[in-house]
Amino acid sequence: MEVLHSQSLAQLHTFGIQVSASRIAAVATVDELKAILFNECLDSSPSLIIGQGSNLLFCSDFQGTVILNRIMGVAVTETDYAYHLHVGAGENWHQLVCWTVEQGMPGLENLALIPGCAGSAPIQNIGAYGVELQDICEYVDVMDRRDGEVRRLSADECRFGYRDSVFKHALKETHIIVAVGIRLSKDWQPNISYGPLATLDPETVTAGDILEQVCAVRRAKLPDPTQLGNAGSFFKNPVVNQEMYQQLSAAFPELPSYPAQQGHYKLAAGWLIDQCDLKGYQIGGAAVHQEQALVIVNTGHATSEDVLRLARHIVDTVAHKFGVRLEHEVRFMAANGETTLDEVMP
Ligand code: FAD
Ligand code: EPU
Repeated sequence: MEVLHSQSLAQLHTFGIQVSASRIAAVATVDELKAILFNECLDSSPSLIIGQGSNLLFCSDFQGTVILNRIMGVAVTETDYAYHLHVGAGENWHQLVCWTVEQGMPGLENLALIPGCAGSAPIQNIGAYGVELQDICEYVDVMDRRDGEVRRLSADECRFGYRDSVFKHALKETHIIVAVGIRLSKDWQPNISYGPLATLDPETVTAGDILEQVCAVRRAKLPDPTQLGNAGSFFKNPVVNQEMYQQLSAAFPELPSYPAQQGHYKLAAGWLIDQCDLKGYQIGGAAVHQEQALVIVNTGHATSEDVLRLARHIVDTVAHKFGVRLEHEVRFMAANGETTLDEVMP
């Protein structure tokens, strides 16, 4: 394990903003992770575990240790009905998706090209093109920061929801994900229900075809973080009750919406922002992406302050026009730990 002092985080998160941490350490095994959590030399300053930083906004320099999760390894076992994968939390998610499809173990193809580590996937229950991690997750192994013990949570215990799980609530401060268990059924059925995949022929389509199409659609809409810094959808799609939905769809008949749980409706936040004519709107070096209004991009030299001011402007403008309050999906990190837009820019 290597501990570095006063290092730049610019290359370690996909927004590419110039911020630093007091220390950065990379851990390659569960034992290394335990060692760093209980390392007396690292005093009592805060520590933050990250994967590839693709869902993060550092609001300032981090006054503590950033731990890079690089715990690798994939083990596959097989029954008559399914492949069971035990995946180290530091494995690259997209590489895992491609590898499983190449090996004839389909099931992850709709989740292709989502940046980040496999171990980060359960945290917001990553989802795209009609599939969410919860559909294939069997278990999650976690280390308790307080005693270094590792235990296994069943998928039920993870309490997955839309961009949500127990890792954003009860276990947020106390547990670190070290591995993920994935079950891929041998009775594979293509999932091509989501709009841009509907052109594929359900009789002949292969997992490889879906993977290719998902990548093509994503490349057309979403900016490549290596070219243009961003953290994917900046806000979650808001979920509203039936009364609010009826009012809005009467006033705006074009409003894209999807039925959600308990009679609620999920609205397309990208459409709401787009309707406020905010595509391309820029504050300092931060801008609303031209192809997808739900994405905020770093045009080159954005500061955290630029992104925060733009996010504030988007939230206020959408609230004023539609009466809908957007919540950020991207996780905000202050000097000592997690924060929110309302806290840093009320
Ligand atoms: P990080 O950003 O490093 O961390 C995210 C949060 O998890 C932080 O709070 C961090 O402290 C915490 N964390 C990280 N690792 C651990 C761990 N081992 N244990 C406990 N906590 C941990 N998401 C989707 O759901 N669907 C999409 O289609 C999608 N598309 C995207 C497209 C682009 C271009 C980008 C940039 C992002 C996109 N995202 C999408 C968001 C992002 O890819 C996912 O949230 C991803 O799972 C984040 O992984 P990461 O390793 O980068 O996590
Ligand atoms: N739309 C617009 N203008 C825009 C953007 C979108 O009118 O600028 C409309 C689209 O025409 C469409 C609707 O909004 O009718 C939904 O757009 P899209 O299909 O692009 O999906 P999204 O709701 O914007 C969500 C996820 C993405 C995921 C895609 C595909 C959230 C917050 N975002 O985006 O996830 O890849 O669906 O499943 O749920 C992420 O979480 O970082 C992410 C990229």
